[in-house]
Amino acid sequence: MRAVVLRRHGPAEILSLESVPDPTTGSEQVLVAVEAIGLNFAEVLSRKGLYGWSPDLPYVLGMEAVGVIEEIGDRVEGREIGERVLVASQFGSYAEKIAVAASSALPALDSYTPEENAAFGVNYMTAWVSLLEMARMRHTDRVLVSAAAGGVGTAAVQIASSFGCEVVALASSDAKLQLARNLGATDAVCYGNIGFPDQLLDTVGSRGIDVALETVGGHVFKACADCLAPFGRIVVAGYAELDYKLWNPISLWRAWRGMPRMSMESMYKGSKGLLSTHLGYLVPYPEIVRPVWDRLTTFVEEHKIRPIVGHVFQLADVAEAHQLMESRGSMGKIVMRV
Ligand SMILES: NC(=O)c1ccc[n+]([C@@H]2O[C@H](COP(=O)([O-])OP(=O)(O)OC[C@H]3O[C@@H](n4cnc5c(N)ncnc54)[C@H](OP(=O)(O)O)[C@@H]3O)[C@@H](O)[C@H]2O)c1
Repeated sequence: MRAVVLRRHGPAEILSLESVPDPTTGSEQVLVAVEAIGLNFAEVLSRKGLYGWSPDLPYVLGMEAVGVIEEIGDRVEGREIGERVLVASQFGSYAEKIAVAASSALPALDSYTPEENAAFGVNYMTAWVSLLEMARMRHTDRVLVSAAAGGVGTAAVQIASSFGCEVVALASSDAKLQLARNLGATDAVCYGNIGFPDQLLDTVGSRGIDVALETVGGHVFKACADCLAPFGRIVVAGYAELDYKLWNPISLWRAWRGMPRMSMESMYKGSKGLLSTHLGYLVPYPEIVRPVWDRLTTFVEEHKIRPIVGHVFQLADVAEAHQLMESRGSMGKIVMRV
């Protein structure tokens, strides 16, 4: 099969397709013929050697895809050849085939195109887990979402606004904020402007924010944390802005300074909380994750939410797709067709 094998860390240009043997199907696995792949910011970090959850080199890059079951391990029950599934994995999805634990292959959504299915799993689960499972969002909450035009961000804006919440979107450009408004955000503030964070404080006023989903870090995290109302909860699901290089101690120090953190004193004085999640570390708990997935899929189907597929590439153009995400130029999800 053809696959993108990460043999060393480096810039996007190191990525290309090569021929490798097909994966073998373990007894508790299914083998999936991949149709479309969702690109995640974590894969940009993995490529650079900056992602703690990555396996050792070399490995096939990629954490999610949609495809059709082609083979079923002999200890797997209740699955069918030809079933369309979403797969989540620590690695292996930038390929024509991937073998995953049967519990990590979830039924694709019938009403979605392959591209929409590829754009759904990781982003919507991250948004849902952050807002509903961690922050316990309520209909009356006012919700703040950073990087609101990105993969996780668009999912969070759609979910929170469909839930009935007032949503304040943050992003780095006016075009991105317009997308967030189109998806239901009631207010939008650009953190690329000189007036930030004052503009944000003016927008939220004394009412403040009840729930924030933050994925940028640095000054954006600080501004979001400063807006929290009493009983406010901020969930950190990433820190994309922190630019560190393994071999550069100054960049490591800058990144350490920009890491989201909150003192116990500021939490008790403000009656507010800092929470965090990482889907990868939930993989060993399918019995906990599956009911969450079922609640999420029921919700998006009831509210007719469709993932925002912003850019579609061929898998052979993987380097270009990575460059787009790294350049901060993407809106919605980047998907690669196989
Ligand atoms: N915890 C989890 O389980 C989990 C799962 C999935 C994703 N995540 C995290 O959620 C965030 C979004 O992930 P995603 O895959 O949906 O990506 P994405 O939002 O589509 O793209 C990343 C976004 O981050 C913002 N950003 C800020 N600083 C950046 C920088 N220096 N370089 C590039 N982008 C920068 C950009 O939006 P602006 O230009 O508007 O700032 C960019 O569009 C990431 O931090 C990721 O690590 C966490």
